[in-house]
Amino acid sequence: MTGIPAGDIARVGVVGCGQMGAGIAEVCARAGLDVKVAETTGEALEIGRTRLFNSLSKAAERGKISEAELAETQARLSFTTDLGEFADRDLVIEAVVENEQVKTEIFQVLDQVVTRPDAILASNTSSIPLVKLAVATSRPDQVIGIHFFNPAPVQQLVELIPALTTSEGTLGRAQLFAEKTLGKHSIRAQDRSGFVVNALLIPYLLSAIRMFESGIASREDIDNGMELGCAHPMGPLKLSDLIGLDTVASVAQSMYEEYKEPLYAAPPLLQRMVDAGRLGRKSGSGFYTYG
Ligand SMILES: NC(=O)c1ccc[n+]([C@@H]2O[C@H](COP(=O)([O-])OP(=O)(O)OC[C@H]3O[C@@H](n4cnc5c(N)ncnc54)[C@H](O)[C@@H]3O)[C@@H](O)[C@H]2O)c1
Repeated sequence: MTGIPAGDIARVGVVGCGQMGAGIAEVCARAGLDVKVAETTGEALEIGRTRLFNSLSKAAERGKISEAELAETQARLSFTTDLGEFADRDLVIEAVVENEQVKTEIFQVLDQVVTRPDAILASNTSSIPLVKLAVATSRPDQVIGIHFFNPAPVQQLVELIPALTTSEGTLGRAQLFAEKTLGKHSIRAQDRSGFVVNALLIPYLLSAIRMFESGIASREDIDNGMELGCAHPMGPLKLSDLIGLDTVASVAQSMYEEYKEPLYAAPPLLQRMVDAGRLGRKSGSGFYTYG
């Protein structure tokens, strides 16, 4: 991370403080930005704040930031359950559940409350067409996808996804933000469900789940196969648990709606696990059980 704010973005809002929202807020605060984070309820906010501060403390324990930087970074973070407090934000990054209706409603609210005329309204969506969120606002030229990877403080990549309505100016400012302010590597993708990485990754994860469901191999053998045979740092079932099975299922659903290709269709087992509340690491159980 650079720690040197570049461009004209100094005040960032992050909507949602789950695993991605907390990570994005951490990256922005460590880059020297003033960051306000919103959640639905006080309880969700407290869980998100604890997640974020624990991650920062670990970064300090590992020597990635000094004790002074830890205190300064924490001081740059504030938390709210009221999106009305986002009025002065230069950039808002939405990172709530992968649900088109929920995200659309948030963009409508942000459009009402964010007063800076050139503010960028961004989504961290993995698969929902950006243009749908853009046209829910009165400033579709200022809406863009800024897609981080999990865990956001560690993964170097950010995908930039302009909608058909997004201006060149918005894209340029988003790129400056991702690369110069945050020190990430950006790639650009058209507004097609899954963009670059998930368009390749999701069919692979779904194939692994189908393989497990049909009894071809055990979960351990599937994961070991890809870790030890292809040098992947994490096998596909472990990775699905890390992403969140609800997110994998929602992304697959959006991609299937977009392309109508069987390779994007979620296997029944995935949906049953989501219905049972087995969402992976975040709920304590998925393909594996977590402490
Ligand atoms: N999990 C991943 O690996 C990953 C990677 C890249 C992008 N994404 C995308 O990031 C987004 C969030 O995913 P996640 O893994 O952080 O999910 P998550 O379930 O960990 O967190 C979602 C959070 O959104 C909050 N939320 C829901 N409605 C809200 C609202 N109206 N206002 C404020 N907060 C609200 C929830 O309380 C929850 O804390 C999704 O769009 C997902 O597709 C996920």
